[in-house]
Amino acid sequence: MVDNGTAGSPPILGPSRRCVVTGAAGFIGSHLCEALLDAGHEVLGIDCFTDYYDRAIKEDNLSGLRDRPGFRLAEEDLRSAELRPLVAGADTVFHLAAMGGLLRSWTWFKLYQDCNILATQRLLDAVLVENVGHIIHVSTSSVYGRDSSGDERQPPQPISPYGVTKLAAEHLVGAYAANFGVKATVLRYFSIFGPRQRPDMGYHLFIDHILKGETITIAGDGRQSRGNTYVADCVAATVAAFARGPVPEVVGETFNIGGGEVISALDALALIERIIGREATVVHGPSRPGEQLQALADTGKARRVLGWMPRTGIEAGLRAQVDWQTRRAVPTGGRS
Ligand SMILES: NC(=O)c1ccc[n+]([C@@H]2O[C@H](COP(=O)([O-])OP(=O)(O)OC[C@H]3O[C@@H](n4cnc5c(N)ncnc54)[C@H](O)[C@@H]3O)[C@@H](O)[C@H]2O)c1
Repeated sequence: MVDNGTAGSPPILGPSRRCVVTGAAGFIGSHLCEALLDAGHEVLGIDCFTDYYDRAIKEDNLSGLRDRPGFRLAEEDLRSAELRPLVAGADTVFHLAAMGGLLRSWTWFKLYQDCNILATQRLLDAVLVENVGHIIHVSTSSVYGRDSSGDERQPPQPISPYGVTKLAAEHLVGAYAANFGVKATVLRYFSIFGPRQRPDMGYHLFIDHILKGETITIAGDGRQSRGNTYVADCVAATVAAFARGPVPEVVGETFNIGGGEVISALDALALIERIIGREATVVHGPSRPGEQLQALADTGKARRVLGWMPRTGIEAGLRAQVDWQTRRAVPTGGRS
């Protein structure tokens, strides 16, 4: 276990707990591992480095983690690994591993099905048998469908295979909870951005293309809007659900986790142009099948129950992401 007494600042969340984070090498998972270690917890990360994007990027995500005391990475695939030994003795499992992004889910459906549904079922089996105290399952606003604005009571109507597989995973979590008493909480993240954002995501592409002087293709008219969530805010919400623990207000519940500001793709692009100080060359392409038109989370429940609220606005968050991407774009001899 991590020695809280020698860690410098006192632990934020009380005694050190054993955490398992799936998808630890990914965009959000790597930030979550760092936050849990910062709070004095022990973290076993699991990741199989799917080739959805380059392994080198994920190695970069892990660069601040690999040598930290209290952190261990198991390079294992949730679709096939023996999972019981990995979760045995864990207080909490955070399940972030998934195939993300909606576009490829039309053509790579089997992969989405296996990584998002089968892997979740195998993990739930292991969590059940090993009697893990709490599983925090990460889901998405994509389960709601074309208009994802509102609170958790909106009926889910996913319009992409990605959203369908993520909703199926949520239902599996519910089935294990209803039948076997697995203590689970579902967090539906809304469009996360900030340093380490996946290279296929909109803001990453906008910034990358402006920095390289390449043409940006905007899907549709660019008026699709998002209540984007800064990555540190979504991590803070996840840690808040963990800190509350498996209490009745949290277990069996679903929480929207979203930023408070809504912005269209075109306005976000204009803001990025202003931050970088360079104009983009833009063409408009066809709308993408399965894309949400609007997604603004009503986060009243998370604020009330978890005592959480988003703190970083779109401009400050985009400045941090531009800064990160700019440092990565310029070879300096060291990694950012
Ligand atoms: N990024 C967003 O805006 C966003 C929004 C809503 C929800 N989410 C959810 O958040 C979670 C993390 O997303 P992200 O953007 O960090 O994605 P990411 O692709 O950067 O990270 C996911 C990680 O999971 C790993 N993984 C996938 N399948 C695996 C398997 N079978 N076994 C082991 N590891 C596996 C991948 O290698 C990857 O490193 C996902 O569950 C996603 O659905 C993300």
